[in-house]
Amino acid sequence: MLKVVVLVSGGGTNLQAIIDNIESQKITNTKIVGVISNNKNAYALERAKKHNIFSLSISPKDYENREDFHKKLLEEINKLSPDLIVLAGCLIKIPDELIKNYERRIINIHPSLIPAFSGVGYYGLKVHEEALKRGVLVTGATVHFVNELVDGGEIIAQEVVKVEKDDTKETLQKRVMEEAEWKMLSFVINEIANNRIKIGRE
Ligand code: GRF
Repeated sequence: MLKVVVLVSGGGTNLQAIIDNIESQKITNTKIVGVISNNKNAYALERAKKHNIFSLSISPKDYENREDFHKKLLEEINKLSPDLIVLAGCLIKIPDELIKNYERRIINIHPSLIPAFSGVGYYGLKVHEEALKRGVLVTGATVHFVNELVDGGEIIAQEVVKVEKDDTKETLQKRVMEEAEWKMLSFVINEIANNRIKIGRE
């Protein structure tokens, strides 16, 4: 059984897709052992509670410095001893210590075709706004391993979404989620859980 910790910051629609796909057995051999948010008000936490999944908020605001916050985060994740950590709309920079401890065991979903519209500052609607500004005809989403570079780790999967003439950043964000993100993240987790994508050190 693949034990998964999901890190979130906001609405948690990607988390919801994972929960639903585990319940309907589109994802097999997988258990979400915890959902952790840096934001106390993240709706993602409610989603976890509704499905009786252990959830926790660890806010950097409650710690004197970043180091103490990172220490607590690592401590709580270690307690859950996950095989895989999924960043599903997690807006904090992942501490190096966590990356070292979970090498090739942390994956992230990003709402563009990396390397386009990725890296520092590219999150949320900004990604889609920039894609529209540049006039790309296709965009999409990427699932990748997390390393010390923002959106810089090895790419695992990408899905293309067509940009429509009348798209706004909001409609594009929605379609990228519906057509790419929700399906692809679940697909990758299922592949990992069933040993078709290898994680961890070789
Ligand atoms: C998604 O667009 C994801 O790609 C990005 O943050 C957003 C999170 O949305 N990393 P949600 O919280 O899963 O609804």
